[in-house]
Amino acid sequence: MDRRSFLKFSGKGILLLGGMSMMSACSGVKREDLPRLNGEKTSLKGLEKDEMEILYLASLAPSGHNTQPWTVKIVEPKHWVIGSDKKRWLTTVDPDNRELLLGMGAFIENLVLAAGIFGYEADVQIIAKNASDLDIADIRLRKGKTIEFPLEKIKKRRTVRSGYTDQVIKTEDLKYITKHDSKSCTLPHAPSPHSFYYPNNSPQGKYLQEGTIEANRKQAFRDPAQEELANWIRWSNKEAKQYRNGLTPESMEIKGIAGLFVRNFYNRQSVLKKSFRDQTVDIVAKQVNTCGGWLVVNSSDSNIPTLIEYGKVFENMLLRIRERMIAIHPMTQMLEEEPWKKQIAKELGLAGDVQWILRIGYLKSYPDPVSLRMPVPWFVKT
Ligand SMILES: Cc1cc2nc3c(=O)[nH]c(=O)nc-3n(C[C@H](O)[C@H](O)[C@H](O)COP(=O)(O)O)c2cc1C
Repeated sequence: MDRRSFLKFSGKGILLLGGMSMMSACSGVKREDLPRLNGEKTSLKGLEKDEMEILYLASLAPSGHNTQPWTVKIVEPKHWVIGSDKKRWLTTVDPDNRELLLGMGAFIENLVLAAGIFGYEADVQIIAKNASDLDIADIRLRKGKTIEFPLEKIKKRRTVRSGYTDQVIKTEDLKYITKHDSKSCTLPHAPSPHSFYYPNNSPQGKYLQEGTIEANRKQAFRDPAQEELANWIRWSNKEAKQYRNGLTPESMEIKGIAGLFVRNFYNRQSVLKKSFRDQTVDIVAKQVNTCGGWLVVNSSDSNIPTLIEYGKVFENMLLRIRERMIAIHPMTQMLEEEPWKKQIAKELGLAGDVQWILRIGYLKSYPDPVSLRMPVPWFVKT
């Protein structure tokens, strides 16, 4: 799926350019190309302007396949229930909603920080008892101290998948990015995360490289998993604008002529072809080969408050990496596929459960965010 693989098609692609609109010919839809609202009213019943802004900033959180699984019920002014939409669950690769809850934690972390920026203290109570509960957290905002936190950090965070150098991560940078920010950690009874860094050429780094390639191969050829992925890829600009979620060629970093080609000729069926599955594994093999190593985060249990907390701490770390020119790429397939899922903690000599496998590396230049977001009224239930 990389640029070179598609160059052979470029002649055909360019010949067809005459008949395309400028938009589809020039580039894929990026976040900045779409207005925040899709024609909806700028205010919603029960939500003030700054609360709309808080929810928009919360929605800039990462989520698996960019499903943006969150929903917000307005119980009364400044009292919300955050939940998830079953239609946006990844039941094949994430049957226990483990990753869903991590993503919800990231959303809650952004929400708490954004609320603080607007002078509110957010009280978060986890109400989900089972991973399949739709209502997850009860949130109350009350006027409090304004926190000093640059909005830009939330707006500029993004997942980067290419362009990593293979420089080992400096100890001071590791310390800085894994520093637990106690101010934003609001959940009682949730354990503190432990993260372990493995350079790529360490025995553990090699195990993670090899395991990630093989787990991706297994998943790419597991039809239900590939079908689920196909449902979340928005190949054309039209689909991207219609759904404003899922993965786009831009967010998958398929650029230039390759991007042009896939936007115009790829569809759901293309993802199920053997050639696409093989290319996916080839790209992963190249990615894992060039990076500064791996961060693995483990926990003593996988209870709901733990998963939410690990999502919060993950997001808090992501908000600090850009300033150090560090990129982090979650590569979750070893946690989704057997036998790695069962074996990984033991193979790495870690106690408990592994929650995150993160490829990490320095970038020479940091690209702006491109992944799409649904307008706030699409996920708020008034
Ligand atoms: C729980 C979780 C698991 C993820 N797993 C992967 C993964 O295996 N591979 C990958 O490329 N990105 C993965 N991501 C990153 C998402 O694809 C990404 O956050 C989403 O597309 C939105 O893009 P953004 O982070 O640039 O806003 C994961 C994110 C989360 C929260």
